[in-house]
Amino acid sequence: MSERKKVLVVGSGGREHTIVSAISRSPSNPEIYCAPGNAGIAEAAQCVDIGGEDIEGLLQFARAEKIDLTIVGPEAPLVAGIVDLFEGEGLKIFGPGKGGAQLEGSKIFCKEFLCRHGIPTAAFEIFEDSEAALAHVNERPLPMVVKADGLAAGKGVIVAHDRDTAVKAVEDIMVERNFGDAGSRVLIEDCLTGSEISIMALTDGVNYLPLETAQDYKPAFDGNKGPNTGGMGSYSPYYSLGDPLVQDILNKVIRKTVEGLAQEELPFKGVLYAGIMLTDEGPMMLEYNARFGDPETQSILSRLKTDPLAVFEAASEPGGLEEMVLEWDERDAVCIVAASGGYPGSYEQGVPIEGLTPAGEDSQEAGLWVYHAGTRRGETGETLTAGGRVLGVTALGETRQAASEKAYEALAGISFDGLHSRRDIGQTMAN
Ligand code: AMP
Ligand code: GLY
Repeated sequence: MSERKKVLVVGSGGREHTIVSAISRSPSNPEIYCAPGNAGIAEAAQCVDIGGEDIEGLLQFARAEKIDLTIVGPEAPLVAGIVDLFEGEGLKIFGPGKGGAQLEGSKIFCKEFLCRHGIPTAAFEIFEDSEAALAHVNERPLPMVVKADGLAAGKGVIVAHDRDTAVKAVEDIMVERNFGDAGSRVLIEDCLTGSEISIMALTDGVNYLPLETAQDYKPAFDGNKGPNTGGMGSYSPYYSLGDPLVQDILNKVIRKTVEGLAQEELPFKGVLYAGIMLTDEGPMMLEYNARFGDPETQSILSRLKTDPLAVFEAASEPGGLEEMVLEWDERDAVCIVAASGGYPGSYEQGVPIEGLTPAGEDSQEAGLWVYHAGTRRGETGETLTAGGRVLGVTALGETRQAASEKAYEALAGISFDGLHSRRDIGQTMAN
């Protein structure tokens, strides 16, 4: 028998638990490691106590353990150059190099890239100086969108409907430096209206392969009310891949992006996530992510029938996706996030979670998974909350409604002090 392959997943959230869970159903039965992982991931993988930001530490681990493939979940290690570092040592890794990851790492780089390649996006101006930015904010028509250039943990975008909000946004970003160096430059752009869609595609740098579509629910409360969060739930599919709208976006955005990256010699393998506003003038790019969306991934990968490890491996090699065909479960998937009380504001951590099913009881056949997003093991083996978004209960059903009901039924058996979830996930549209 040939040796089992060794796979390292980098990250500790619901997206990474979903990736670990998907790979663990590979017929090749790989040995899975996760750095740093969480309490749920620890049931399917060996967790290693190295943070995603410690890319040198991850390299040492991958070399020592002879890891065959590393899969990077979050953006920070990608922007820090983990892929260049690993590939420089001849190690196979899923994700874009530092250059390509700039599409997510710098909103200004992203806008300039869009302009160079004729991809439609909102008109914008760039400022390096807070006085000039404030003068602009006071002159231009409302509403407007103010964005910190760099990574800001999803908090650096402010849609301002009045001047005070716009002024405060510029001051918070450029003067107070609430996001550190990410705020040394700002972008001020036209506010687009329409509904939002995100399209994710795998790319090997040459070919691209669209993933099934999904939508996430950003606002904290039912009926899309309240403050924005990292995502309170998701469903897949949204549009069918054959829909002319999706084909149009693949052609006008994804194809042009992959070609543009290749032309600019910015190696990009992994997932390209395009966040798009469907406006009256057609699809317009809002932003790229250089990684899987969270919690969209929970709904999407739960439907993937093709050997997930083979898919990740193919997308990690230049031209590797040429022959790859993805097969999907026809059923709908819905993911409901159970969050800590107070999230997205401040919240307590270390709260015991009751009612979690033992490992293995959730599975592809049952079409039910409790993905852990922010959890850790307590000293006596109990599972504790360790983040704002704690769990992502994900179910498959014949319809979106059926999947939603099944996920809510499973969620009803789980409790922790302060648990907060929306009650309309999969039952109303996400936007
Ligand atoms: P984030 O995903 O945190 O970077 O925030 C991006 C979100 O801000 C998008 O999902 C949109 O809802 C909103 N947004 C960004 N740019 C614009 C724009 N030009 N017009 C309207 N909304 C925008
Ligand atoms: N759910 C959106 C994101 O992952 O950025």
